[in-house]
Amino acid sequence: MVTAYDATFARILDEAGADLLLVGDSLGMVIQGNDDTLSVTVDDIVYHCRAVARGASHAHIVGDMPFLSYQLTPEEALRNAGRILAQGRAHSVKLEGGRSVAPTIARMVAAGIPVMAHVGLTPQSVHAMGGFRVQGRDEDDARRILDDAHAVAEAGAYALVLEGIPGELAARITAEVAIPTIGIGAGVDCDGQVLVCYDLLGLTADLRPKFVKRYDELFDRGVAAVRQFCDDVRSRSFPGPEHTFGVAKRPRAVASTG
Ligand code: KIV
Repeated sequence: MVTAYDATFARILDEAGADLLLVGDSLGMVIQGNDDTLSVTVDDIVYHCRAVARGASHAHIVGDMPFLSYQLTPEEALRNAGRILAQGRAHSVKLEGGRSVAPTIARMVAAGIPVMAHVGLTPQSVHAMGGFRVQGRDEDDARRILDDAHAVAEAGAYALVLEGIPGELAARITAEVAIPTIGIGAGVDCDGQVLVCYDLLGLTADLRPKFVKRYDELFDRGVAAVRQFCDDVRSRSFPGPEHTFGVAKRPRAVASTG
């Protein structure tokens, strides 16, 4: 699974064979430039899901449910999830949390909405966690996350994101729960892996978390390409004749013989 936020990237990721595209609320950070995901709205997710749905033809599209779009009442959660599927054209939704959201997951699944769950480091709880910190390092916290994983699986979630937890704990959850796990910063023993596409492609200049492998350095390559464009414009070597339109050639008038 890879995150996607627009049609062009969706086309690239789909073409590359990603099974799932996550329209994550990480868009609050990488697209909107905020320090966290808290200000993302359901409208934002619907807008970006529609763009991704237009670009992807194979991958399953998961729309992330923003902060407070599913915690207030199950009815509101259903309404918001329904918008992400009906207007955003996503195939399923993802939400953060364990035992506390299990009844909401059950309601959504009963209404025909496939739900991906997300436990461990849950970015929407950044202030409750005291920052973006690895979770489940001590025995009690590991037990809490294990119980959360069981609760969301029993509530009917079809898959489970495990974020920012020790590899040993992710391996245990993967072995114990019946649904596939998808890890980010959770080691190699999960069933699948997810990365933010901007991290994977090296588009984030200032953020280099330990769990990210950068498969390219597109920020540096982008800067070099645009610098070249600026130089070419200033030196008038762009646009060249091959980029320039000419006037239409008129057919020559035939000389009159009369
Ligand atoms: O919003 C997001 O991109 C996510 C992934 C990092 C799992 O939730």
